[in-house]
Amino acid sequence: MVVGPMTSEARPRVFVTRRISQEGLDRIAAQTDADIWPHDLPPAREELLRRVTGIDGVLSMVTERVDGEFLERAGPRLKVVSQFGVGVDNIDVGACTRRGVAVGNTPGVLTDSTADAAFALLMAAARRIPEGFDYVRQDRWKAWSPMIMLGSDVHHATLGIIGFGRIGREVAKRARGFDMRVLYYKRTPLAAEEEQRLGVQRATLDDALAQSDFISLHVPLTPETHHLMNAANLAKMKRSAILVNAARGPVVDPDALYDALKNGVIAGAALDVTEPEPIAGDHKLLSLPNCLVVPHIASASVATRAKMTNIAAENLFAGVKGEPLPSCVNPEVYRRES
Ligand code: DGY
Repeated sequence: MVVGPMTSEARPRVFVTRRISQEGLDRIAAQTDADIWPHDLPPAREELLRRVTGIDGVLSMVTERVDGEFLERAGPRLKVVSQFGVGVDNIDVGACTRRGVAVGNTPGVLTDSTADAAFALLMAAARRIPEGFDYVRQDRWKAWSPMIMLGSDVHHATLGIIGFGRIGREVAKRARGFDMRVLYYKRTPLAAEEEQRLGVQRATLDDALAQSDFISLHVPLTPETHHLMNAANLAKMKRSAILVNAARGPVVDPDALYDALKNGVIAGAALDVTEPEPIAGDHKLLSLPNCLVVPHIASASVATRAKMTNIAAENLFAGVKGEPLPSCVNPEVYRRES
């Protein structure tokens, strides 16, 4: 969709909740009357609510809670919430739909980068890369040694993928390159030909947990998946297994994970996302050598963030004009009036 510049009286008011690429911001500023939050940290809640009052559209991030209060403060002009990301668990989509507010997201373009990152976490934890780097930096490397930093093999190991949407499937493709056996857990089975094409086998959650050397989480955060990895499910994993989470932090119970890592219930964890998020530098999980944490960067490649910017901007432009969003989470919003 090509959107021409809008005349000043027609320019819709939008709030962009964070600095994105200058190119993206310039594009948005050219099409709208844009209020752009200038800081790297998100606006505090009260500031956010103040800034969204009377707007036509918002470009939001995972850090903003878009709930009834937000929608109330935004008011009746609000037509679109354009999320910079694929996950929309920070948005009360039902409340948006009831108010006729379209919700956009950026699926597809971040699938490969997120799968790359999940696999990087898996490999880093398996082969103890961060520990090795710390060891060298601390000047503890005195000689080649047959017994230091022994990790787990990735090749020919079994990977259990929990949640088998776009990202889970891409992780499976990467795993096949390492000759891994891939189990997937998903409520609806894939067609047999699709399983064969991807070289994967469906398993129950219990079987996937019990048989896998690595578990990689790729479910959305919902009431059903909240703390899916609790003490009981962590205990079903192999003692030698490693848990990877590049989905959403609250899918894993952090206290249960701490206990499991500390007591040798599982061997390691590699997290792109945490509960709470951000996790404080002195959080107990960070005291463990077998827990690797990075700051929610799975989709953070230059190219992917540029594509996310484009889609989020297109969703915003379409939404403020009352047109269908190129990527809409709640298409039923268009059927409300009929
Ligand atoms: C996503 O796209 O959902 C990422 O986690 C960033 O929000």
